[in-house]
Amino acid sequence: MPFLSRRELLSSGLALSASSLLARSAWGRAAELLKDSPISASAVPAIAPRERLLFDFGWKFQMGHATDPAHDLGFGNGQGDFAKTGEFAFSKSGFDDSKWRALNLPHDWAVELPFVRDEELGSHGFKPLGRRYPETSVGWYRREFEIPSSDLGKRITVEFDGAFRSLIIFVNGCFIGRNDNGYAPFSFDLTDFLSYGQKNYIVARVDASFGDGWFYEGAGIYRHVWLSKSDALHLGKWESTARAELGSGSAQLALATVVENQGKQAESAKINWQIQDAAGKTVATAEAAVQSVEVDGCAKFTATAKLDSPLLWSVDQPNLYTAVVTVTSNGKVRDAERITFGVRTAVFDADKGFFLNGKSLKIQGTCNHQDHAGVGAALPDRLQSFRMGVLRAMGCNAVRTSHNMPTPEWVEACDRMGVMMMCETRQMSSNPEGMAQLEAMIKRYRNSPSIILWSVGNEEWLLQDKMAEQGAKVAETMVKRCHELDPTRPVSAAVNGDNEKGVSDAFDIIGFNYGLDRPDKFHKEHPQRPIYGSETSSAISTRGVYATDPLRNTINAYNGVVSWGETAEEWWKFYATRDWEAGGFAWTGFDYRGEPTPYGWPSINSQFGIIDMCGFPKDTFYYYKAWWSTEPSLHLFPHWNFEGKEGEVIPVWVYSNLDEVELFVNGKSQGSQQVPRLGHVEWKVKYEPGVIEARGTKDGKVLLTEKRETTGGPVAIRLTADRTEINADGEDVAILTVEVLDKQGRPVPTASNLIGFKVTGAGALIGVGNGDPNCQESDKEPKRSLFGGLAQVIVQSTREPGNIHIEAVKEGWDGPELTGAKLQIVTKKTQLRPAVG
Ligand code: GAL
Repeated sequence: MPFLSRRELLSSGLALSASSLLARSAWGRAAELLKDSPISASAVPAIAPRERLLFDFGWKFQMGHATDPAHDLGFGNGQGDFAKTGEFAFSKSGFDDSKWRALNLPHDWAVELPFVRDEELGSHGFKPLGRRYPETSVGWYRREFEIPSSDLGKRITVEFDGAFRSLIIFVNGCFIGRNDNGYAPFSFDLTDFLSYGQKNYIVARVDASFGDGWFYEGAGIYRHVWLSKSDALHLGKWESTARAELGSGSAQLALATVVENQGKQAESAKINWQIQDAAGKTVATAEAAVQSVEVDGCAKFTATAKLDSPLLWSVDQPNLYTAVVTVTSNGKVRDAERITFGVRTAVFDADKGFFLNGKSLKIQGTCNHQDHAGVGAALPDRLQSFRMGVLRAMGCNAVRTSHNMPTPEWVEACDRMGVMMMCETRQMSSNPEGMAQLEAMIKRYRNSPSIILWSVGNEEWLLQDKMAEQGAKVAETMVKRCHELDPTRPVSAAVNGDNEKGVSDAFDIIGFNYGLDRPDKFHKEHPQRPIYGSETSSAISTRGVYATDPLRNTINAYNGVVSWGETAEEWWKFYATRDWEAGGFAWTGFDYRGEPTPYGWPSINSQFGIIDMCGFPKDTFYYYKAWWSTEPSLHLFPHWNFEGKEGEVIPVWVYSNLDEVELFVNGKSQGSQQVPRLGHVEWKVKYEPGVIEARGTKDGKVLLTEKRETTGGPVAIRLTADRTEINADGEDVAILTVEVLDKQGRPVPTASNLIGFKVTGAGALIGVGNGDPNCQESDKEPKRSLFGGLAQVIVQSTREPGNIHIEAVKEGWDGPELTGAKLQIVTKKTQLRPAVG
């Protein structure tokens, strides 16, 4: 049974569905199956004496310039860039940033930029970034912060979960370091550069002139930043591991960690572990004997513990455990941290596919990029679980983080919501940068039970083929390092070429991107090698649109697909009917900015999504829901508003997992059809306004029905929110759906009215969207036209409890008058995450 908390349910948008005819059936029923889940790992504060402070609030921002120092704070103005430590005036007191814009992180300035018609920019969503756009490719972030004198002697580190892209850090006039990739976390030790008992100044210059990929990547500090303060005798970063080996009735835990000594004398250190269940009850303990740790040295500690009758982590019951790891020296606690892990087995078998905890399970996966409507790449944490909830509601049980290391909150959402993950690094290379990215990914996430598979890259066609010799070596080096850092998981990559040589030689399991003609042959010739679909489908559709029209850049909702891809039915029929196929990952769960294939301008986002940029399901969502989830389902499309097409033949489709479906048009039966396994049923119907209705039967009884009615024109606006109460923490968001209703209160599925929003009180509007791949309206302005009858508004709380008032009104002069709508979101006092003041 799916296992999501009430909070996950609400945050996932399951509640929002009631407002949308298209969304109602999937989410409504999924909602009934949910119960409470364990506490979020990110909600767990660090344990004293370590402090981990959120460093997101109160920054100043200004655009710089990639080629003109005069517009780039004078940076790079000839000699002197790095000449004398301490001379960078912009990161010292006295620098005037009063005209800079105040903002909180995470932040993505790319989403704020206008769209520019330049074919070179298409794959990145037509945003002016790159070396030809120096004036919009560099951003500066600045913040003042205090460090109390009591911090003297601690190790103080600034930690970035990720920034796009090349980032240089300065503190108190000093150059501290740089990071060049856009997805891996990185940190800098600031201890030596801080002024204790005084004000300090940190400045980051972020340069998005170079990209990492061929899709929208954002620009700026788009993930969280932290300030970590620890004792000089402290746990090594991402060194604590808890590995469970499942026996009968118990699990053996192998525990390990590393202690580092950055103090002035050798220290004795002892480690103990407390293993807690989801309720926080200690269920096992372990201890490692005292060791001496030299100055500037480190020591590894290991121990074992036994967990009796462990609650396994699975997609239905994602039970989590926490290990509290504590370092003591002569009886005094010096450092401590929590790590979250799970007990489960995950096995790929060459004959029988994939097994989770000994039970056969097909991987029903989707690949996803990381941006969302309104906010670009800078997603508030709540949006991660919202998106995961939408995927979960269609029966998706796995995600691939294509083509980069994910943000921690996406992994946590998987851990907590029972979604498996194929975790992928950005760069397939055994060069220092490639290996550093790989190591960061594995060390950071190797305790997460959701991760079943590491991926060292995607579609490196030269390494797969023409440079196969080098490819084999590169992959071998990467796989070996993966195994050293994590002996528990198989390693693979997404391969779209020859799987019999090059990179594939080194992989534990073999990934196929597309090409349904390849796996059978490969399996026959290599029956001992497990296989799965690392990337499949690339079906394309425009939500709520039922005609492919190259003049409008739309794709019909029935069977659009690119030449190298497969429709949902084609790929899933293939994978579902072969025991030895572990399953696969469809390209993609959500639409994303960039890659507007098969069109170009004015399309600014992809149409590959099963779900649009806002999280509104397209019709294909219900194909997956029918065959990926176990509950009865039935979905009828298209809508029935085809004014002017009277008498024309319209294909009417139903996705269902029931036995038979009968279609009625204005009460007249169009015949009953058996639903083919893994398929759909369809009728050709002459359009006449009124009602179409599908009645689905199981064992001869009508179990589900769905109607589409011809609505009247819009007369009123409706606003609904995923939740009407959120946390007053400056981070939480309410996700609003905007619709217009006809006189009878029915949502108008074809509406495109422009609606304006006024947000006042204890929150602010942070983004709008409508899922239209061809809409170039601003993501940030408080107005949006509906697309296919829907738009989305995201509002974020401040840190002061109160009420957020949202008012929606008709915007502009044209179109019919509409009665406005008002909605109030309560923001409630909550325990705030410790943050830099
Ligand atoms: C794949 C690639 C993806 C995306 C997709 C579109 O080959 O791995 O990143 O571009 O094609 O179909």
